[in-house]
Amino acid sequence: MHFFEYKDGQLFAEGVPAAELARKFGTPLYVYSAATLRRHFEAFDSAFAGVPHLTCYSVKANSNLSLLSLLKDCGAGMDIVSGGELHRALTAGVSPDKIVYSGVGKRADEMRQALAAGILMFNVESAAELELLSAIATDMGKTARISLRINPDVDPKTHPYISTGMKKNKFGLDIESSLATYQRAMALPGIEPIGIDCHIGSQLTSLDPFLEALDRIMRFHERLSGLGLKITHLDLGGGLGIPYNDEEPPHPTEFGEALVKVLKDHPMTVILEPGRVIAGNSGILLTEVVYTKKTPTKDFIIVDAGMNDLVRPSLYGSFHAIREVEPKGRPDVDVDVVGPICESGDFLAKDRNIPAVEQGELLAVFSAGAYGFTMSSNYNSRPRAAEVLVDGDKVTLARRRETLDDLIALEKN
Ligand code: LLP
Repeated sequence: MHFFEYKDGQLFAEGVPAAELARKFGTPLYVYSAATLRRHFEAFDSAFAGVPHLTCYSVKANSNLSLLSLLKDCGAGMDIVSGGELHRALTAGVSPDKIVYSGVGKRADEMRQALAAGILMFNVESAAELELLSAIATDMGKTARISLRINPDVDPKTHPYISTGMKKNKFGLDIESSLATYQRAMALPGIEPIGIDCHIGSQLTSLDPFLEALDRIMRFHERLSGLGLKITHLDLGGGLGIPYNDEEPPHPTEFGEALVKVLKDHPMTVILEPGRVIAGNSGILLTEVVYTKKTPTKDFIIVDAGMNDLVRPSLYGSFHAIREVEPKGRPDVDVDVVGPICESGDFLAKDRNIPAVEQGELLAVFSAGAYGFTMSSNYNSRPRAAEVLVDGDKVTLARRRETLDDLIALEKN
């Protein structure tokens, strides 16, 4: 459910016509809906009301400060994976004791930064990381609260690039080595093991892999209790999918109910790290048709947003709905919607059936709020798009469009 709707024959972002935003801020333009973000956060968070919990929004999905600040005001904590994301979360005013830090390759300087900030928990992903964290924390006279990220070896049945909880993936520790690593953690100075962590993948459209992973984690938890270790935090990661096209992922309420049923008799604080389910359908990408082009085999719609702006279709073959901003009622045609980048992999849609559009008209690419702007780049020396946040009738320029001078500002001539 989102607040991008057609009224009086044109697309609105909440109370504002999308075409007006494109005129004012130019294209390509990311447009986010504050009401949708709040609604998604509240639906997700309230699904876990039955257990003590902390919903840590996954910053990687969309790290714009205006969004982080809005979600912080809803009560969100943050899940981060770099010193850069920590800097953003703290700048947005998120309390450090609501920040958890995941990632297989945390550097020493990033550990120092997070220890100095006093974050809630490091999700440690290897024995080597644990040793380094202990050395750094001891050196700083601090204690690092940690969980180990367990790789439960469950197939999340999603795109292979975003499956993370299978044996062959680089993430976490397998269950057997984890037991010994927890024992090591209990003995190490500067380390306080408080949690268990797990994240099996992204864009999951079924409950089963989540429940299977939870079952394995809970059995592992019992074995840990046998070591005399008291676990107070259970981090179940993110991963709940969203409808991009015809997917039917579980509703957050259903997701929450199923997990709470298993968790309610265990006195632990449950941490969740949703990204896509909060931000994905809270954003669209507006783009202008630069040219239309017919070839003997294909018709192309060439738009001013490319794979540098939204890489998901090129990288994962992902589907994003594309609709006219001001529908003209023309018949449907089969087209490729492509960007201006010099690669044949630069497309937003392939063999898509959409109404015919003409040069100068606007298209909206839906479900672009998560992993859209955050994965954008300057490839082909294209300044990155602007981002606006709409809240009712109010529009905030959440990030100004990059300029040509921004492109070269850090370089030596
Ligand atoms: N926690 C951890 C440790 C993660 O690695 C991720 C996502 C999340 C939470 C949030 O997952 P979500 O709720 O958003 O599914 N670029 C890809 C998605 C990569 C996800 C990486 N990890 C895409 O565009 O589909």
